[in-house]
Amino acid sequence: MLDQLPLLPADPILGLAAAARADDNPNKVDLTVGIYMDEQGLCPVFDAVQQAQRALVEAETTKAYMPAAGDGAFNTGIQKLVFGDDSAPLLAGRISSIQTPGGCGALRIGAEVIAAAAPGAKVWVSDPTWPVHIPLLGSVGLKFENYRYYEPDSHGVNFDGMVEDLKQAGAGDVVLLHGCCHNPCGADLTLEQWGVVADMAEQQGFLPFIDIAYQGLGDGLDADAAGLRLLASRLPELIVAASCSKNLGLYRERTGATLFLCRNADSAAALQSQAQVAARRVYSMPPAHGAIIAGRVLSDAALRANWEAELRGMCERINGLRSQIRSKLEAAADRDFSFIEREKGMFSFLGLSKEQAHKLRNEHSVYMLDSSRINVAGVNARNIDALAAAVGQVVKG
Ligand code: LMR
Repeated sequence: MLDQLPLLPADPILGLAAAARADDNPNKVDLTVGIYMDEQGLCPVFDAVQQAQRALVEAETTKAYMPAAGDGAFNTGIQKLVFGDDSAPLLAGRISSIQTPGGCGALRIGAEVIAAAAPGAKVWVSDPTWPVHIPLLGSVGLKFENYRYYEPDSHGVNFDGMVEDLKQAGAGDVVLLHGCCHNPCGADLTLEQWGVVADMAEQQGFLPFIDIAYQGLGDGLDADAAGLRLLASRLPELIVAASCSKNLGLYRERTGATLFLCRNADSAAALQSQAQVAARRVYSMPPAHGAIIAGRVLSDAALRANWEAELRGMCERINGLRSQIRSKLEAAADRDFSFIEREKGMFSFLGLSKEQAHKLRNEHSVYMLDSSRINVAGVNARNIDALAAAVGQVVKG
């Protein structure tokens, strides 16, 4: 029965990261997977996370299952982090959540709940979107339609095209939005444009599903959630997939949450029960370690201040790197890279062809995705000149 199954191609992101790891060139540059790297090229553990982890290990008395909805402090903390401490719908009890295995688990549980409410519903996804969105949401039978988003010529959002396409989205449809730091292009909506999306959702009745995997890495924790909060202040319903992989550095601990903004508190309780049943069907209950740590960091004033300061430092470093990459690439390639500075978060398309990306990989050990998406946070003082020189050579032919 099983030997008929073929060997599948490697994942376009994780497979390339593995190829970069296997490259023995000491000067290789790995800009593949979206992981925050520091100046030393290491993915650090936040100091506040270390402290909370040590306290947890000391005090832990059981490894019994987690409750179906996950850790209570974590759920409270993530609801406030995403919607804001004094969010009116939060105070009105209109928000519920369930802790999930990472942002992927959050997307999958959101999709399961959507499929329960509207089997085979159409999900509008930005062109392009994170490639894993499609299998994660499609595995429950949801259908897809693209809306125009990134415009390669201007390296920005084609908002007119987006609006025109989304005019076709109606009640019963879902519109998947990137809360901030768009993955893969780094081009975000302005607050004014979020307002237009809110107008359209109000008038047309579609359900926004917001993936906010990078809160805190664009302009800061509150600024990055401003578009989402604007929608939350105006719409009756919203689903959010949140992740603590990047902003708390809990990648391997698989810590995330699906959050539901509902018409009223009864509906919020119903949605949480739906999510719990969906989780039982897929993985039963979430892992404990990362969420208990995140719950403590989010709720303890000293740990929270320590975490926020470190996160701000990361965000500033990414934005500083954006300026440096721009000027180094412009000098080496004689081309306009000013768009890199306008974008937000960990990613940017360099605007290179697939052939050029392959050449960079094969001839210079510079690894980026075929789409020329780079992980900005993988650049540092030691590899920036090698990156610029290689891009310069490839661009100039
Ligand atoms: C990425 O886009 O590189 C990250 O979100 C990691 C992943 O799982 O793909």
